[in-house]
Amino acid sequence: MTETLESIAQAMVAPGKGILAADESSGTIKKRFDAINVASTEDNRRDYRELLFRTDEAMQKYISGVILFDETIRQKAKDGTPLVDLIKKAGAIPGIKVDAGAKPMAGFPGETVTEGLDGLRERLAEYYDLGARFAKWRAVIDIGDGIPTNACIEANAEALARYAALCQEAKIVPIVEPEVLMDGSHTADRCFEVTEATLRTVFNRLALHNVKLEGTILKPNMIVSGKKCPTQAGVEEVAEKTIACFKRTVPAAIPGIVFLSGGQSDEDATAHLDAMNKIGGFPWKMSFSYGRALQAAPQKAWAGKAENVPAAQKAFLHRARMNSLATLGEWQSSLEKSA
Ligand code: 13P
Repeated sequence: MTETLESIAQAMVAPGKGILAADESSGTIKKRFDAINVASTEDNRRDYRELLFRTDEAMQKYISGVILFDETIRQKAKDGTPLVDLIKKAGAIPGIKVDAGAKPMAGFPGETVTEGLDGLRERLAEYYDLGARFAKWRAVIDIGDGIPTNACIEANAEALARYAALCQEAKIVPIVEPEVLMDGSHTADRCFEVTEATLRTVFNRLALHNVKLEGTILKPNMIVSGKKCPTQAGVEEVAEKTIACFKRTVPAAIPGIVFLSGGQSDEDATAHLDAMNKIGGFPWKMSFSYGRALQAAPQKAWAGKAENVPAAQKAFLHRARMNSLATLGEWQSSLEKSA
């Protein structure tokens, strides 16, 4: 079969599969390693990611693609095999984070705009040669007193659209990620309102830039209560509100929605996804592109020790399998306890 943007996007959301977000920047992976008392050296980062990509059962059955950071897409396993080849051998698609991070937005205190458009055409061509068939760009929208502003939403949506157009020109499927943060004390209804406004603007800009939706994957937040909100929306409420918000704003031509976990607990991220797929009745695949919710458990089990690799792989396999079941609406909380 010839590879097209559509066929790659469809493969990214193949039934029962989702994406492993292993694209932590140098700063973020250091934070994760600090939490398990592991020095963030190039070798440790390699060893850790190699153990994930060599978890054959998880990678072959439950993972459709892996988002990599620039260092990792160029890195070789201990035995000299490029890490990209390990991913491909497992039948998964290599992807690449191409944004340069969310930077303070001039004139808008407390808000950020994501950078990285300069030179992106050339970088995408290189990443294609290195094996990447999809990319990720993360915009960050924070909720607080008087924010987000329209200026912040518009600037981030415009950058996402320009990024997506450049990706498609390079035969790379763009993952469009406008993340409305769950860090504040806002209610789930406020999250709904801000996510609705953000997605409307993002899809307007994608249309303006002639981005082909059939070859685009959306990576959004779910509609959840802010972490510091005294009343927390339950699983059913999150599922219903998330579906309702997306029905208003996400065109049916988008093949798949892959959620970020955003700081939800491992089990919440799984339960929410499962509840949405149990409800069903929407035109897109709903799957995962989790970073923390797939990796927190294996990181803890590994703790930087070679002898813990099998335990870490077991933990990764378990979370991958739970989230795979959630994409089918077949997860049950009892499966967590029995593991
Ligand atoms: P989390 O699932 O940890 O939010 O990370 C996903 C991701 O790639 C954010 O850009």
